Amino acid sequence: MKITFIGHAGVELQSEKHAVLIDPWITGNPVAKHKPTDFKPNAIILSHGHSDHIGDSIAIAKSSNSPIIAIYELALYCHSKGAKVEGMNMGGPREYDFGKVMLTPAFHSSSLDGQYLGMPCGIVVTMKDGKKIYHAGDTALFSDMALIGRQGLELACLPIGSNYTMDPAAAFEAIQLLKPKYVLPMHYNTFPLISQNAQEFKKRVESHTGSKVLILNPGESTEI
Ligand code: NI
Ligand code: MN
Repeated sequence: MKITFIGHAGVELQSEKHAVLIDPWITGNPVAKHKPTDFKPNAIILSHGHSDHIGDSIAIAKSSNSPIIAIYELALYCHSKGAKVEGMNMGGPREYDFGKVMLTPAFHSSSLDGQYLGMPCGIVVTMKDGKKIYHAGDTALFSDMALIGRQGLELACLPIGSNYTMDPAAAFEAIQLLKPKYVLPMHYNTFPLISQNAQEFKKRVESHTGSKVLILNPGESTEI
């Protein structure tokens, strides 16, 4: 599977036949290298309704004729802006042509211009090739991450920027609950308030856990 880091919380997952985009914020993202038109995903999945996560999703959904998958209230909002949507809520998975999607809890908030956009979520995607990816969205550390980890994760995309989300110390705790094969740190170094040293984080995680940390610069991809 190919993982592309768009920057901030934006990630593209590509299996042999399908592509899924999560939280694609490109326009106005100071670190993004892509253009919104670079992406033709089968679906876009949103963790929550903050502008740094909705990003370009409505424009990409329209240009690629793909649905936005999100919690019900956020899906309704995207629908009101003209996008095709699939509303879900936290709980069991739903099967799509590219694989399965399950929304999980996240400890955060979710609104846009004062409008409530449902609970913030984490996302578990099981691609058709069987690889399971957890994108934590924006969240604080919580002990129920251990239950998500029991599903057997290939990759966990975890925020480490602090202030709005976990910091590297909390993400280190999260990794011990999630036990993923790979970790992609995200939601850091987009702007000065969330500056972090990802190399130090990688060193600590890899010397104390069985997980391997993939550090990708915005615009970079890797195979797992
Ligand atoms: Ni947020
Ligand atoms: Mn955010």
